[in-house]
Amino acid sequence: MTPHTFLITGGAGYLGSHAVVAFEQAGYKTIILDNFSNASEWSLAGIEKILGYCPPVHKEDIRDREALRRIFQQYNFTGVIHFAWLKAVGESCAEIGYYHENNISGSITLFQTMEEFSVRKIIFSSSATVYDARNIAPITEDMPLHTTNPYGTTKLIIEKLLEDYATHARWSVTALRYFNPIGAHPSGHIGEVPAGVPNNLLPYIFDVASGKREKVRVFGHDYDTEDGTGVRDYIDVNDLIQAHLLAYKNLTEGFYIYNIGTGRGTSVLEMISLVWEVTGKKVPYEIAPRRNGDVATTYCDTSRAENELGFKSKISVKEGIIETWRFIQSN
Ligand SMILES: NC(=O)c1ccc[n+]([C@@H]2O[C@H](COP(=O)([O-])OP(=O)(O)OC[C@H]3O[C@@H](n4cnc5c(N)ncnc54)[C@H](O)[C@@H]3O)[C@@H](O)[C@H]2O)c1
Repeated sequence: MTPHTFLITGGAGYLGSHAVVAFEQAGYKTIILDNFSNASEWSLAGIEKILGYCPPVHKEDIRDREALRRIFQQYNFTGVIHFAWLKAVGESCAEIGYYHENNISGSITLFQTMEEFSVRKIIFSSSATVYDARNIAPITEDMPLHTTNPYGTTKLIIEKLLEDYATHARWSVTALRYFNPIGAHPSGHIGEVPAGVPNNLLPYIFDVASGKREKVRVFGHDYDTEDGTGVRDYIDVNDLIQAHLLAYKNLTEGFYIYNIGTGRGTSVLEMISLVWEVTGKKVPYEIAPRRNGDVATTYCDTSRAENELGFKSKISVKEGIIETWRFIQSN
């Protein structure tokens, strides 16, 4: 029997490369589609080191309808795992049209091609950023939604468009709202390689630990949390990808949303001291004023993913930091 074959859009990126490895190791076939706007061939070499081979790679853009048609003609896809996206929140506010075009037009072209070739199964990378920041943790999937930047808005819009396909074209859609992915593959061969100034806290702390940047700016130390700094839910990338395998096993017609996080919060100062402990490198920091729109504490309610997908995170934040450190040292 031919194994199920998945198109992994953004498959050369941070999360996509881990999905390629995990799906291949679970016995599925994967095809990588990436325009390499935020990835390098180097992640493909990492995949090859882990698997002993690299699945087929198509250096194409999801906005290119003819390229998509050629790829869909070539393979008999079971479904699509859609990671391809521009994801820098700050940049999205400066380059609004570019973000709309890449993320929204690209996804629309992808969905039209899927429909044309009767590929009606998709797992979509959504984000906790779609939730209204005023919600009180733990965040459940049915809490109010509200976005404050174009990146978040593109996620919310695509969730709604996918709901239309599920309702009116009988697609099977699962949107996974990730909290804060961290960590790297245990082999140290693939991981997160931020371009320029990191948007996320952990890569920034590591930049400081490795002397690339002077100090971490901790925005706010007077929040109503144990140490006064912001608390977030950090989910290990290897756990997060397991959620995709479970989502596929449970995929049925309709539109489903799941939070993917740990259900626990870790503060900024805890993250800094964990990196310090794991690397043995000093992480200087300074307290800065709170940022507009930031909230004290956010972490997710994991019960829907636990009850319906059987997903529960297993890897601790400290282990995620150890993986990241291994990845940085071996590369
Ligand atoms: N990493 C996070 O913190 C986080 C949090 C929540 C949600 N997400 C979502 O998860 C997904 C994957 O994120 P990631 O961290 O792996 O990001 P990433 O930038 O490492 O991966 C995205 C990949 O998509 C590719 N890409 C972008 N536009 C494309 C296009 N038009 N055509 C083809 N390829 C294109 C990029 O080259 C990149 O390799 C994204 O949808 C992101 O929004 C990420």
